[in-house]
Amino acid sequence: DAEDTLQPRPPVVTIMGHVDHGKTSLLDALRGTDVVCGEAGGITQHIGAYQIKTKGGDHITFLDTPGHEAFTEMRMRGANVTDIVILVVAGDDGLMPQTIEAINHTKAAGVPMIVAITKADKPEFNPQKIRERLLEHEVIVEAMSGDVQDVEVSAKTGAGLDDLIEKILLQAELLELKANPDRAAEATVIEAKLDKGKGPLATVLVNRGTLKVGDILVVGTQSGRVRAMLDDKGRQVKVAPPSLPVEVLGIGGVPMAGDTLTVVENEARAREVAAYRQEQATAKRTATAPT
Ligand code: GTP
Ligand code: NA
Ligand code: MG
Repeated sequence: DAEDTLQPRPPVVTIMGHVDHGKTSLLDALRGTDVVCGEAGGITQHIGAYQIKTKGGDHITFLDTPGHEAFTEMRMRGANVTDIVILVVAGDDGLMPQTIEAINHTKAAGVPMIVAITKADKPEFNPQKIRERLLEHEVIVEAMSGDVQDVEVSAKTGAGLDDLIEKILLQAELLELKANPDRAAEATVIEAKLDKGKGPLATVLVNRGTLKVGDILVVGTQSGRVRAMLDDKGRQVKVAPPSLPVEVLGIGGVPMAGDTLTVVENEARAREVAAYRQEQATAKRTATAPT
């Protein structure tokens, strides 16, 4: 992209942390929604991708992960969509195995981290203990004279949420995130599934360009045409600019998480690229098949 066509884009923030430490609740509080209540057993089963508009008018994209598999899997497939990680730690608990895994994955990815010590409303809340434990894993927060930002929050009372938003925006500013919206779109598949009524569905995050209804695309070994796009509230959108997560209808088959979606000039080209990739995938499978 030429320098002059680059425009600021919203940060993509991935929420990580141990099971039940309050990731989805925190996102619900930030969005003013109640996703946790709709979850079977209060356990997140799939990635949620959302965009919020802050009081100041800035946009932030959030990815809520059911574990680190999704993050690691995408990273291994070369899809680094995350700009900032929010490490959620329940301040009434401690550093748990998945907290430590999240720290390691974040460090390996070289992504800046903000620590959200949550459940501040609970009587057992002890953020200092968390900060000390973090130190043992070489995560040195500002309160311990380090450079990792940390914030005390409560999804229940809303305490600290404005502070968290401010810290995200500050970090995003330092990263100078930019993309050219005026070109054919390139996006990354966050998750995909087959819906009985709607057919193959893919949640994608636009990396650059603007994805439009009617665009002809190749994604992994699949081709298609954008028939419709839905935002995180299920509303139809005609265009998706950089950093906006949307659900795409109209793909010929179910792509894989981490696949790149590319817009091409015509259907013949889309089928050609998809067929070539299918051949490559088959060849690879044959080559690695046990004998
Ligand atoms: P998984 O997706 O299953 O890994 O869990 P999660 O990290 O998304 O946690 P979730 O938001 O489902 O919250 C787990 C439990 O902690 C729920 O019972 C929440 O109501 C509770 N909880 C989350 N945040 C807070 C908080 O700030 N204060 C209090 N008191 N409870 C909270
Ligand atoms: Na939960
Ligand atoms: Mg959850």
